[in-house]
Amino acid sequence: MKQFLDLEDIQNVPNLIEKAIALKTNPFAHKELGNNKSIGLLFFNSSLRTRLSTQKAAQNLGMDVMIMNLNSDGWGLEFEDGSVMNANTAEHIKEAAAVISQYVDIIALRAFPSLTDKKKDEEEQIIKSFQKYASVPVVNMESATAHPLQALTDAITITEFKQKNRPKVVLTWAPHPRALPHAVPNSFAKMMQMIAVDFVITHPKGYELNPEITKNTPIIYNQEEALKGADFVYAKNWSSYNDYGQIKSTDENWMVTKSKLQTAKFMHCLPVRRNVIVADEVLDSNQSLVIQQANNRTYAAQAVLKEILENR
Ligand code: CP
Repeated sequence: MKQFLDLEDIQNVPNLIEKAIALKTNPFAHKELGNNKSIGLLFFNSSLRTRLSTQKAAQNLGMDVMIMNLNSDGWGLEFEDGSVMNANTAEHIKEAAAVISQYVDIIALRAFPSLTDKKKDEEEQIIKSFQKYASVPVVNMESATAHPLQALTDAITITEFKQKNRPKVVLTWAPHPRALPHAVPNSFAKMMQMIAVDFVITHPKGYELNPEITKNTPIIYNQEEALKGADFVYAKNWSSYNDYGQIKSTDENWMVTKSKLQTAKFMHCLPVRRNVIVADEVLDSNQSLVIQQANNRTYAAQAVLKEILENR
């Protein structure tokens, strides 16, 4: 693996899942790989899991870790080519990415979408600019349209907890008071098409995800019908894709409850709003996998960083 911008950068998904699971039993086995190597974790947005688990993953591999919150601590970055920088931006990505590349061996980046300019968000200008002007590999820690480290984590978790060869996995929209990005459901949908599961998406009308991503995945607008026979229920809110970034519904009837879950395991990428997305009775039960899922963030990141270091 030369970079990790999206799931297509994984050559063999089931193989990487197995490697990540193996790392859990001996996380320090490859500590020499990152000797005298460093990673820069660069954040334009908030994070708990991604920040700490990627730091832990890098440290497990013997790497040094530098972390920077670019919005609060860095210079305002300019991404447009040929711009006259006489307003709010003080440093061009051409210099910034080249300079950072001299300090670290891998750049990992988080940059959320605007949710106001669909075209710009889909161009993935920030992460693609880093990739263009950096001379070291770039890792996606959640970009405008994708969260591949989360999706790899989710596939690891389903692999660990499945009780049949081909479990039924349902991605259900759930209500939220704020407009949220599509990165997590996009990457989850892509990943579910890459592993052996029966995958269904359910959401209210108006919440259709990008059809280039969902492809031929069944979309069922009746949540109760979609959840029938589910082995794993993955809840997530996202804003409208067609009416880009808009909140079309906050219908609390879409919250995941124990009676809807039946015997299925519950998954969510976290952070989660209790009693809005999912009821306490689910999160506090042994049907919830959210803590185990968050633990797997470390091993997903470690498996990816290991592959990149082995290719350096
Ligand atoms: N799931 C996830 O990416 O968590 P953070 O936003 O806290 O990193």
